[in-house]
Amino acid sequence: VSDPFRLRSLPRAEVHVHLEGCFEAALLEQWARRHGESLPRPVDRLFQFQGLADFLEFLDWACGLVRTREELAEAAYAFSLRMDNSGAGYADLIVNPTHWRQWVTRLPAMVDALDAGFRAAEQDGLPRVGLCVSLLRTQTAEAAAQVVDELVALRHPRVVALSIDGNEAAAGRTGPRFAEAFKRAAAAGLRRTVHAGESSGPEGVRDAIELLGAERIDHGVRAIEDPAVVALLVDRQIPLGICPSSNLVLKVYPSLEDHPIERLRRAGVPVSINTDDPALLDTTLEREYALCAQTFGWDDAVLRDLARTSIEASFADAGLKSELL
Ligand code: ADE
Ligand code: ZN
Repeated sequence: VSDPFRLRSLPRAEVHVHLEGCFEAALLEQWARRHGESLPRPVDRLFQFQGLADFLEFLDWACGLVRTREELAEAAYAFSLRMDNSGAGYADLIVNPTHWRQWVTRLPAMVDALDAGFRAAEQDGLPRVGLCVSLLRTQTAEAAAQVVDELVALRHPRVVALSIDGNEAAAGRTGPRFAEAFKRAAAAGLRRTVHAGESSGPEGVRDAIELLGAERIDHGVRAIEDPAVVALLVDRQIPLGICPSSNLVLKVYPSLEDHPIERLRRAGVPVSINTDDPALLDTTLEREYALCAQTFGWDDAVLRDLARTSIEASFADAGLKSELL
């Protein structure tokens, strides 16, 4: 695909990307060898997924290979390098402790190791990163409450938001289960971002807004199936963190032509373009912009607008936002 940016010079942020999805196959192979673990399938087919459930299971395996503080800090630094290469000046990065079997019971140590990697990266002039610590849709309310307790006690400046991800199709309607956790996070000054409208329909997007107080929706694309939910997003100007290739690979839509991003944008929903899990889904931020520009015929003005929305939708502080814009 061509480079519609002149993309390089266009200031933008990435607001929907998971650390769990940023491991290169070669690095996973190296860690697996170091820890005496075998790959779940041959390396040339390592990143072939049947759908979201299979994909999430793979994340548990990959993150389970990260054992030491140094390995975790290395993963954080590598993420910052990836952001720099993709032209983003800032990222809200989702990390879901439940995938990291060595760290899930040690959240403060996990945040500290990640922070060390990001600080080293920032000292080397790489983009700044805010952490969105994520709950899992299939978790219990008690487990979610514990994560929020730990975050509130920790008050680490690296942690900017509470997030929730995972498989809503496996979990059913869980907005009510997590309402209390999100309410307490908000009261403690954490921002809120919610995966919905990917493995759930528009009702999941409505619950994210009304029950979880979401300030941003990750995916949110299936809002298009209910005009009243689209209207709610427009009225409240709630941005969506859309990941076009992810939705194709994980089988939400059969092709980019069928993807609702352009219809949502034209309806007045603030949309941003993101990668979700760039290494595992074999994409980059620039490629996502370029594929959409090509498919939907976007000109420079549209691209500038989308890039600006990505910064405005981010949880960067006001000073950094104005620096980026
Ligand atoms: N975790 C990582 N990527 C995800 C996605 N696309 N949906 C839900 N949870 C995820
Ligand atoms: Zn995601």
